[in-house]
Amino acid sequence: MIISLYLRIRLSLLRLQLWKFVDEHQIESLEKSKAKSALEKLQEERKTLPIYPYRDQLLQAVNDYQVLVIVGETGSGKTTQIPQYLHEAGYTKRGKVGCTQPRRVAAMSIAARVSQELGVKLGHEVGYSIRFEDCTSDKTILKYMTDGMLLREFLGEPDLAGYSVIMVDEAHERTLSTDVLFGLVKDIARFRPELKLLISSATLDAEKFSDYFDSAPIFKIPGRRYPVEINFTKAPEADYLDAAIVTALQIHVTKPPGDILVFLTGQEEIEAAEEIMKHRTRGLGTKIAELIICPIYANLPTELQAKIFEPTPIGARKVVLATNIAETSLTIDGIKYVIDPGFSKIKSYNPRTGMESLQVSPISKASANQRAGRSGRTGPGMCFRLYTAYSYYNEMEDNTVPEIQRTNLANVVLTLKSLGIHDLVNFDFMDQPPSEALLKALELLYALGALNKLGELTKMGRRMAEFPLDPMLSKMMVASEKHKCSDEIISIAAMLSIGNSIFYRPKDKQVHADNARMNFHTGNVGDHIALLKVYNSWRETNYSTQWCYENYIQVRSMKRARDIRDQLEGLLERVEIELTSNLNDLDAIKKTIISGFFPHSAKLQKNGSYRTIKHPQTVHIHPSSGLAQVLPRWAVYHELVCTSKEYMRQVTELKPEWLVEIAPHFYQLKDVEDLSQKKMPRGQGRPAEN
Ligand code: CDP
Ligand code: MG
Repeated sequence: MIISLYLRIRLSLLRLQLWKFVDEHQIESLEKSKAKSALEKLQEERKTLPIYPYRDQLLQAVNDYQVLVIVGETGSGKTTQIPQYLHEAGYTKRGKVGCTQPRRVAAMSIAARVSQELGVKLGHEVGYSIRFEDCTSDKTILKYMTDGMLLREFLGEPDLAGYSVIMVDEAHERTLSTDVLFGLVKDIARFRPELKLLISSATLDAEKFSDYFDSAPIFKIPGRRYPVEINFTKAPEADYLDAAIVTALQIHVTKPPGDILVFLTGQEEIEAAEEIMKHRTRGLGTKIAELIICPIYANLPTELQAKIFEPTPIGARKVVLATNIAETSLTIDGIKYVIDPGFSKIKSYNPRTGMESLQVSPISKASANQRAGRSGRTGPGMCFRLYTAYSYYNEMEDNTVPEIQRTNLANVVLTLKSLGIHDLVNFDFMDQPPSEALLKALELLYALGALNKLGELTKMGRRMAEFPLDPMLSKMMVASEKHKCSDEIISIAAMLSIGNSIFYRPKDKQVHADNARMNFHTGNVGDHIALLKVYNSWRETNYSTQWCYENYIQVRSMKRARDIRDQLEGLLERVEIELTSNLNDLDAIKKTIISGFFPHSAKLQKNGSYRTIKHPQTVHIHPSSGLAQVLPRWAVYHELVCTSKEYMRQVTELKPEWLVEIAPHFYQLKDVEDLSQKKMPRGQGRPAEN
């Protein structure tokens, strides 16, 4: 009896399991067929792109010529399709197809898209490589990467032997790395006749590329473009951010369906706009359709990037708040309205003082036209320019100045020297960098000890070049050996690399957030050490997410810092620097920072501003700094940002004698002598503190 009951139960259990098995099996095959139909749908979509009818002609041209300039409007399918066509035509049998992008977000999101189209896992056949993140494997045949990463690949493989095709994409952007790549790929193409070189660009200014690459043929992909109605403002806008938000909301309330794209200058501005918009739409009531706000900028976490590509639900409207990245690098379908305030954040460099800063500047006419064009891709569009027709026609430059002519060249010079290219003046640049800027770069590298008096790479320089960092940061890394604090320095460098997205400050809890932040500044240790304290405290909690919440710290940023730190640790090993901790000697850590950043020193003035020491210029401590209220007499800073004033971001106090001790070839005693110590001019000087 009991046995039969037992058997019956076993049997029904077995049946249940069998049923479960069948069910899972069914679900699995259902999933498979869903995936298959999604794949089929993607394949259909590929055939609707403007580039598709030219597929065979394009492949024929690649076959016939070693170097080809390809021009086609944004969204025509250059970036996603050409590497796939090349794969289908067999080029990947001979090596990888590499495609460079000026922006990391573009490299990641395009690789993700292409892996979907091919139905493979991202990182396998299709991968991407950006600084501090290598999502490729031995299987990878289509590799998307930032132009800076390909530049670094030259250091390990000077003839790029692993590649059968190199596609320098978004060439019109003329980033510094792309410009240097031009010279290098042109050179290797000469002794690797089987290597194919594609230079692709979104603008019609292709003659210049063709001329540079020994009259390479130009392949034009005719685009589809619908008319775009352009609207200018009657008078200049006092507050373009507010004007942009108001315009977006007006479109939302009054215009027919279609998504909105707003061009803003950076993460902070985008986050501010997002918050204001959320707040204002709450007051609009239920009669108004839903407005989905999608931010996109370089540091946006990967999992949020996909959101901008999701189709807008019927009845709702999407507004994309983007940096310049949406100008040509990324195409978002469904955009009908573009709002263009006319600004972007660009690097500017003063070769006389050697100072570089990020500045919000007016865009060029070429950029304005690209931006407007984003609204007319799938139907007639409208562009709202938040500037006057007068300033468009009379004040804006025709084209953006190539980065090589407005940036610090130290990094590039170090890379080229590491590649054995000594004669930089005669390097085949498409546009020569200013000779003053080249000279300044050589001077800086000499001051950092990376080059000797003859301009040759030193052992220090060779070690520095191993780090994918700016030379001042690389020097700081190498100098940590001497001061026995490499463990602390890689944490600081990793935290600095994250930028300013570590702390967050919710509107309703600002006081709490500020208090939590100031805890790390106890003792006025300076921003660098505060970053170190944040990292170490998090590490002590075994990388707890809860701890991040409690301290108003972005857990995502911290995870990224941890990743970067791990990689820097690996690089230390490569240059044979032992991992040593010297946490109790804060001066040693500060001296290490100064070993790299001594050119960034400033001295307090009577009015609370600062003067940089070597090439006097007025600067201020950024309000977000822990030292903003302390105003130390002498300070070293990580970077300058220019908003309403020139601000030093990430500031630490220094002792002036350290400058002479650490960089005697750069600073003499007279530079750092405290004159006020000797005579107080008209009794106004602050008494010396040390
Ligand atoms: O490079 P190009 O501007 O010529 O075009 P593309 O980036 O290859 O984009 C072709 C198409 O792929 C566009 O219609 C995009 O909407 C789509 N795409 C996408 O849906 N998701 C991405 N992450 C990238 C592209
Ligand atoms: Mg593209």
